[in-house]
Amino acid sequence: MLDRSYFDKADEFIADHGKDKKSLIPIMQDIQAQYRYIPPELLSYVAKKIGVTEAKAYSVATFYENFSFDQKGKYVIKVCDGTACHVRKGTLILERLYKELGLSDGKKTTDDMLFTVETVSCLGACGLAPVMTVNDVVHPSMTPEKVSETIKKLKEDEA
Ligand code: FES
Repeated sequence: MLDRSYFDKADEFIADHGKDKKSLIPIMQDIQAQYRYIPPELLSYVAKKIGVTEAKAYSVATFYENFSFDQKGKYVIKVCDGTACHVRKGTLILERLYKELGLSDGKKTTDDMLFTVETVSCLGACGLAPVMTVNDVVHPSMTPEKVSETIKKLKEDEA
């Protein structure tokens, strides 16, 4: 159950973009930016308010890859699994991240909600392979050692 502040925030976004069917995507973008995911209850709430059916809102939200219904960690780490990164041992980057954070293909977010690890097919920086991003900041030419250093630093920043 979401607390009231989520709905108040959604009301703000609706006021910003207008109570109109066309506002659906910009409102969802704001929700995603604010919470790093779209709580399903909030999507239903917004849909009702701007006169879009829930089914339509869900089909739009699932169509766009950037929208997520799963709550993510404060740091979203994307590891490239595209060809250029793969041949430069990108899988070792992912393995080290999983090991450092206790994650796996079946568990993508740490229990403390600090880290989410995802794989993507190309980050558009193939010349810098292997690449990962942390909240969209590119980390080029990664090695398992650099992964450990990066995680250590992020944890220190949180301590
Ligand atoms: S294949 Fe990794 S950035 Fe393109």
